[in-house]
Amino acid sequence: MRMLIAVMFIAQPLAAQDLTVTREEGLAAWDRVFAVASHPRCTNCHVGDQGAPMWNGLGYGEDRVHGMNVRADESRIGAESVPCRTCHVTSASENTVPHAPPHIDEAWRLPPAELSWLDKTSAEICAQMRNPDTNDGNSVAELMDHVKTSEFVNWGFAPGAGRSVPPGSTTQLAQDLDVWGAAGTPCLDG
Ligand code: HEC
Ligand code: HEC
Repeated sequence: MRMLIAVMFIAQPLAAQDLTVTREEGLAAWDRVFAVASHPRCTNCHVGDQGAPMWNGLGYGEDRVHGMNVRADESRIGAESVPCRTCHVTSASENTVPHAPPHIDEAWRLPPAELSWLDKTSAEICAQMRNPDTNDGNSVAELMDHVKTSEFVNWGFAPGAGRSVPPGSTTQLAQDLDVWGAAGTPCLDG
């Protein structure tokens, strides 16, 4: 009996460490991350090297490329042609008017081309997101920090003016990234 108690004592901290997240749980968490990343509120900016933002899922009309021939170009802010800020002013006030250019308390711009999610599969985005070479140099912890603090992500979940929102919240998204990371960032194809 004494022995058994001693063993249980020693075993306890190890058991706590052994409570690892399973691959299945990690993949389920990734599914929820993908549901957000593939939503138009994110993919309209995360377009890759086409350089033109999208007007998908605005709630009216066909999905299409941003009107008025807007291009982000190398600068990602359209400095070479018409800068985003010409219409997307920097302002913390609410987005209330439908079809007005959305604005946030941060300079509106496209992400680096490597953060391309538009028309990509879950496996493609997963492989890209877990690799710092293709995710803007981030660890999973840094990605979590980004989704909790980024004005862009925050806007995506509260875009106002009748725009649809991705499932969940910034907190839920950070939690899902955490679970996915703890499971070893599994992707469907490996
Ligand atoms: C207005 C354009 C815009 C929208 C909309 C947008 N993003 Fe981004 N995103 C960016 C930019 C720009 C970056 C590059 C980092 C930076 O400059 O802040 C970025 C980077 C990221 C990164 C990588 C972190 C990093 O340090 O680069 C993640 C993850 C991300 N965005 C998630 C999202 C999610 C999720 C949504 C939708 C809820 C979203 N973004 C919507 C512009 C946008
Ligand atoms: C000439 C004005 C103008 C310029 C310049 C402009 N935009 Fe827009 N943008 C708009 C308008 C207006 C809308 C809203 C369209 C609607 O909802 O009907 C919009 C919407 C968007 C959306 C879609 C938001 C959503 O709800 O998903 C993105 C993404 C976007 N713009 C990115 C950019 C980027 C990046 C730049 C700079 C490279 C830029 N825009 C430059 C006028 C502009």
